[in-house]
Parts: sequence; structure tokens; C-alpha cells
Amino acid sequence: MRKSDIEQEIEKLREEINYHNYRYYVLDSPVISDAEYDKLMRRLEGLEARHPELITPDSPTQRIGAKPLDTFGTITHTIPMLSLNNAFSIEEATEFDERIKRLLSTHPALSPEGRGGNVMIEYVAEPKIDGLAIELVYEDGRFTAGSTRGDGYTGEDVTQNLRTIKSIPMRLLKKQGLGTRDVGLVKNKPPAPSPQPLFSTPSRLEVRGEVFLPIKAFEKINKEREKAAEPLFANPRNAAAGSLRQLDPRITASRPLDIFCYGVGVVEGIKFKSHWETLEALKGFGLKTNPLIMKCSGIKEVLAYHQDMEGKRDNLPYEVDGIVIKVNDIGLQERLGVLTRSPRWALAYKFKPREETTKIHKIEIGVGRTGALTPVAVMEPVEVGGVTIERATLHNQDEIDRKDVRVGDTVVVQRAGDVIPEVVMVIKEKRSGREKPFKIPEKCPLCNSKVERIGAIHFCTGGLSCPAQVKETIKHFVSKRAMDIDGLGDKHIEQFFDDGLIKDVADLYYLKKDDILTLERWAEKSAENLMDAIEKSKHPTLPRLIYALGIRQVGEHIAHVLAEEFGTLEATMKADKERLLSVRDIGPETAESIYDFFQEPHNIKVIEKLNKAGVVFPQIKKAAGKLAGKTFLFTGALESFSRDEAKELVEKQGGKTGAAASKNVDYVVAGAEPGSKYERARKMGLHVITEEEFKRLLGL
Ligand code: IVH
Repeated sequence: MRKSDIEQEIEKLREEINYHNYRYYVLDSPVISDAEYDKLMRRLEGLEARHPELITPDSPTQRIGAKPLDTFGTITHTIPMLSLNNAFSIEEATEFDERIKRLLSTHPALSPEGRGGNVMIEYVAEPKIDGLAIELVYEDGRFTAGSTRGDGYTGEDVTQNLRTIKSIPMRLLKKQGLGTRDVGLVKNKPPAPSPQPLFSTPSRLEVRGEVFLPIKAFEKINKEREKAAEPLFANPRNAAAGSLRQLDPRITASRPLDIFCYGVGVVEGIKFKSHWETLEALKGFGLKTNPLIMKCSGIKEVLAYHQDMEGKRDNLPYEVDGIVIKVNDIGLQERLGVLTRSPRWALAYKFKPREETTKIHKIEIGVGRTGALTPVAVMEPVEVGGVTIERATLHNQDEIDRKDVRVGDTVVVQRAGDVIPEVVMVIKEKRSGREKPFKIPEKCPLCNSKVERIGAIHFCTGGLSCPAQVKETIKHFVSKRAMDIDGLGDKHIEQFFDDGLIKDVADLYYLKKDDILTLERWAEKSAENLMDAIEKSKHPTLPRLIYALGIRQVGEHIAHVLAEEFGTLEATMKADKERLLSVRDIGPETAESIYDFFQEPHNIKVIEKLNKAGVVFPQIKKAAGKLAGKTFLFTGALESFSRDEAKELVEKQGGKTGAAASKNVDYVVAGAEPGSKYERARKMGLHVITEEEFKRLLGL
């Protein structure tokens, strides 16, 4: 090949790879397979290896591989990177809007009348990403430099680390006819439509955005660090900052950092009229912007956006700590101007914090169903994310030691979604010297039995002589997926146990309405309902019964496996360790735990007591039952039963249930609004039946 041909091919490959990067990392909508992509990369790598003189820094092969630095250089931002004023309440956000209207009240663009009155400002509302601010510089469409915000005026030169972030384009997309669209894409596939750049490539474009680490990646990194006994990152923001500020870009490259771009610095050759237009332009250049950004007319819509986002926050794959409100019209932005640190035209309206600081008064020990001891910090109550908390888990002794948590410490507590609040870290600067280190006691604080340590966890050896373990066992026994005794909450179980009405799970079936009525907060009707619910629970399926017993290591799945294998509780109880080990999915630890459970005289006594009380121990007749050998698949909502109930009915009659359409499925039961499973099943020609037909098969 002639040199100019090679140069041309290299260039074409780069354009093509850049385009597929963009499809994959920015649009999340690839148009070629990973294998096809790899092939292009390998071809380019091969050509560049033979012609190293043709390698350019913006080649897709150059994202990783730069040498570690001794220290970061500095980059001065042409326009300072400001920060934002914060608001924490509707009042403060409304006040921001009013101040703007006041400041602009003489501006003709505000209202046809020119001043005052009931004008509405157009805003752009954006998620406030909790990462770190950076600036990217593109010269003639090529990425040439990138820096952290630093003090707002000068930041660190992290160019080679930013290159490793795949959603940062090394070249901006060009206007039609200048590249992107007419690159020779994969054969037989029409080029996918790509958003058109609105503007020709500016000679200089400074882009601002937030680099962040997705929550899943943060959790994975921390797990790996834990295994390697390295200090953990406190949150995704610290992890992102730690990853970007690595002197060795190979470490940065190993962390899946991502970016959302939200603004510009110097732009040569283009004047944007609005912030919205700026964002559209960035998108058109192939830069990643947040899809949840919205244009809002007036502050009311912004407030609604804030509320909506706060609700969505737990379901987003990245951390968002509020919204940013920006006046859309750039003319108005200029009129409003900036204060020393922050612009008057923008505001960060924060969500309720999920992290707070508070003080630990004492550390208590919680004892779980399996006897595991969990240290719990009892703290000065604080509001975290809108909920007052005063207890937070410390997990185990290793965690206490690692974080060096002491009684009396000032700590950061965190609550994420439905997760139990936890102590994140100690603020050691606040120590007075009077704080007391904590060790999990050698005796169970509830029953005084010996405590033994297995792995990271301490266990009370008291078994069912430990009141805490008994209470938790009873709570598990009555729970929805076990015996499902409706209307018997944790508080009631505590009450029944503390008043001596029940000492084990079997005692529930000996409860009398009159006994319950002697207790506080129980009335005729509620007691009657409870008696009915208890009565109804006397006919469990075998897997539920086994699961309800609360054998260590036996969750719902293993309970099913045992039921299927042994057919009765009696046969399960008789199995020795070797027999148990021969069963699918049962490993040595589980086999041991099951065996030990049924060796324990107390457990046998309780099981006998249950049987005497009228709890029916069902029998699974193998290969018997009307539906023996048949597999059912459910899709869509059923009218007469929940999905779980339907599955149970099938299993009771010897049938099986599947999770996906496959040749092994005999019946596909289609309820209302069946989903993709239904489509697939039909395409495969599987036997689809209605709920009515299903009921008939069951004999209902
Ligand atoms: S605009 C003058 N938009 O919040 C405007 N900032 O406290 C400056 N941030 O340093 C920033 N998401 O790190 C803007 N959509 C967004 C943002 C955002 C996160 C961060 C950014 C900035 C800090 C300001």
C-alpha cells in the first residue's frame, strides 16, 4: 500500500471507531457488535504499529497507555470556573426567582409590558451530579487538554486521564458532509442517523462538565479494595476524584468513569443565545449531556422538577445531590452577572442530604435469628434524607476497627434508599480524648451464652435459649414468604413473647383469643382476625414450611430443593450429612447446618408441637399430581392469583414453573398485558392458554 493510502485508511478507521464509541458510550445505542468493533480497533492498532510516525494523540488507540506522571501540571482556566449558591428549601428557591425578577424588572425581554407584573423567567433545570467539575478543551475539533476545577482559576492538568474516559470524544462530530455521516460504516447496515451538529466546529471550544463514577462501579471498586485490605472510598464522588487524580493513567482507565457536560467556557466563533441552545450544540458535537435536563417556564415548574427528581434519585445509576437552575436566556444571564464566587443567574437547589453528622451515645448489640451479633450505634437523632434516625449499623467488629469508631465519636451517617442507615466515618478532628473504643462482648448480652466468632461475624451460641434469637425466629416464621400469618407484626411478637404468651413458633397455634384480649392494644375484632389468620396458615406448602423453620443457610431456594428431593418434612429430618450433600445446590456448610438443626432436641420438640397443634405437614408426591412433568410459564397479570400463588398451585400438583420461554415449557399462561415473554413464546410456537384454561387444568 502506498503511504498516502495507509494514511487514508488510518484516518477512516479513526473516524469510524470514534463514531462507534459515540454510539456506545454517549448514546448508549451501538450499531455494531463488540466483535466488529474489536476488529476495527485491531486493524488500526496493526497499521499504527507498522507506522508509528502516523500516531496522533487523538487516535482511539491512545486512550490508555500514557506513562505515569511524577506530578500534575497546572492549567489556568481562561474563564474562571465558578461555583454555585445553594438553596435548601422551596422558600429559598422562590426567593432566587424573585430576586432575578427584581433585578431584571427594567428589562424589556422579560415581558411585553417591559417591567414588573406577573412575568415568568424561563429556566433550564438540570440534575446536579455529585462528581467533580472538569474542563475539556477542543482545538479545531480535537481534544487537546483537560483540567480539574481546582480553585476555580487554576486546576490540575489531567488530560491523559480524561482521555481514558470513553464518553469523552477525542474528536467532535462534524457537520454533515464533513465526516461522520459518510464514513464507510459496516457493510449491509445503513448508517444510523446521528444527531447533526448545529454549528460548524469552533476553532476553540472549552466544555465544562461533571466527571462521576456510576454507583455500581463504586460498589465494585470498594469490594475489591476491601478484599485487598485497601482503604475504602467513602462515596462515589471521592472515588471519582481519587480515580481522576491518579498519576498513573492506567489506574484511571480501569475505573469506568463517565461524564455529563453542562456548560462552556470560551467558545470561539459561535455565540449561543440560550443555555438550552448551548446544550443542544454540545450534544450535536457528540458530547454527553444529561437526558433528564428540562426547560421550565417559571419557578413553579422548576419546583415540580425538583420534587420529581428527588423521587427519581434512588433509581438513578449515579449520585445526584440536587438540581441546578439556570436562567436560559444568555442575554439575561449577562445582565444578571456574577458575584465573586457564583453567578447570579444560577442556583443549586439541594435535595435533603442523605449524609449527616451526629454523635454516638452508645453502641448496642442486636442479635439476629441466626444468632449473629450486630453492633448498632445509638446516636443523637438527626434528619437524614427527610427521615429522623437515631440508630445506625456498624456491621461487625472488623468494620468498627477499620473505621476506628468509638463511643462518644462524632460520625457521618448515611441513608441510601431503603437501606439501613450506616456509620460511614468518624470525624477524628472532633475527638476530645474521652471517646471509648468498643469490643463486641464475649457473652451474649441477652442470654449470657458464649459468643463465638466465625469469619467476620460474632455469633451467640445460645440458640433457642436466647430470647433475641427466638423472637427473630418467630418473626421469620410468620413472615409473608414463610407461613404468612397476616396481621402479626414484629411489635406484636415482641409483646406476646415479653408477656410470656409464646416461647417458640409452635406456641402461636396454642394462642387463645381470651389470652390476646388481656394484652394492651388488642380488641375483639383484631384478636379474632389474628386467630383466623393463624388458622389459615395451618396448611403450608412443604417448601414454605421448611423455609419457615429458619434453618441457617436455608433460604427459599434450598427449601424448594429439599422439598422436591425428600417429599416430606419427616424424610428431610432423617437425611444424614452425606445424603444431604448429594442433593443439588447443597454444599458442605448447608448440609451441616440442616443436619445439626434436626439433631437439636429442642427443634424436634417444636416440630412435634406444630404437628400436634394441627399444622399439616404436606407431602410432595413425586411424579404424581395432575400436573406432574408439566412446566408452566406465566406472563402478564393474572386476575385470580398473584404470580407466587399460581406457581405454588402448580407445584402443589406436581408441576414445575419456568422463568423464560423455552422448548421445555408445556403451557404459557397469558394474563393481562403479557410482556416480551409472551411474544417470544408465540414465536416459538409454544402452547399459550388463558387464565380460565389454567384454572380448569388445576381443577378449580
Ligand atoms: S453549573 C456557573 N451544572 O456543582 C455554573 N454545575 O456547586 C457552574 N455540578 O462546581 C456550574 N452538576 O461541580 C453546573 N448540571 C450542573 C452540575 C454542576 C454538578 C457541580 C459542579 C460545580 C458545582 C457547583
